[in-house]
Amino acid sequence: SMNLKRSIITKSHVKRILPERKKDSHKKTFGTLLVIAGSRQYLGAPILTCLGALRIGCGYVRLLSCEEVGRLAVGREPGLVFTSIDGDSFSLKELDLALELAQESDAIVLGPGLTNREHVCEFVMNFLMQIDKPVLIDADGLNCISKNVDVLNSVRAPVIITPHPGEFARLVKQPTEQVKYNYLLAERFALDHNVIVVLKGATTIVTDGKNTYYNLVGNTSLAKAGSGDVLSGVIGGFLAQGVAPTEACVLGVYVHGLASEKYSMREGTMLVSELVDLIPYAVEEVA
Ligand code: APR
Ligand code: MG
Repeated sequence: SMNLKRSIITKSHVKRILPERKKDSHKKTFGTLLVIAGSRQYLGAPILTCLGALRIGCGYVRLLSCEEVGRLAVGREPGLVFTSIDGDSFSLKELDLALELAQESDAIVLGPGLTNREHVCEFVMNFLMQIDKPVLIDADGLNCISKNVDVLNSVRAPVIITPHPGEFARLVKQPTEQVKYNYLLAERFALDHNVIVVLKGATTIVTDGKNTYYNLVGNTSLAKAGSGDVLSGVIGGFLAQGVAPTEACVLGVYVHGLASEKYSMREGTMLVSELVDLIPYAVEEVA
């Protein structure tokens, strides 16, 4: 389109949009993020998302998941606020509770480790149609909506999606090789569905259909299961703090990438839990 701007994310851009931390503040000043994630099958993903959000300065991170996830999550970080669901995964019986918590939150991350079983997807679809808070949809949340992508147009609040090429391929029903780094397709999808697309890869593309940004920061240490879950938390943490959705994505992908570059040992030997602990050094560089 005529007015579309495309640019590489620079450190000076990130420095300009990083939210300030006012002295006269309290935990609610820095936002409440609701993380809806996990299952008995995927215990780690939700924890990584929550830690990403806390590390980026979110004031109140609330996790809704199954009991097993909660025990591990609060064991790793007692500052997390956990609410348990019944059983091993989400279903419609969690809908009222999830909507109630969403009501009390500033932003939501939906998806990591949920599985895409039928009752989970039923929950995901209904939840999306009823919320009115900014929501980031990732991983199994995306796999669920792949069955009916038009649900995105009926969400009454800003939506961010963070697919890797395989997930984006399912969303647009094209082969993975065709969607990889396909900024034109990402831009079209953003416009058609009124969402912000974060198409992940060695170069990550952020687009709201009007502005497109390329993130070149980050290395192959991120090519490891769980690093995407951290990114969801980082972006969600910025969203909850009131950062505008596109800016939250720009900040998030850059800081997440930069954190991987702070690892001093050989590329590829970093643990995802160590990535979480390197976020403060990345933030320090852009503060
Ligand atoms: N260079 C720079 N960044 C990279 C590279 C690379 N070579 N490879 C990957 N990354 C970054 C991506 O940009 C993205 O931010 O690492 C992150 C990987 O995210 P995902 O692909 O979502 O991986 P993740 O979610 O951690 O692990 C696999 O995805 O398929 C689902 O449900 C499945 O839980 C599983 C998960
Ligand atoms: Mg992922």
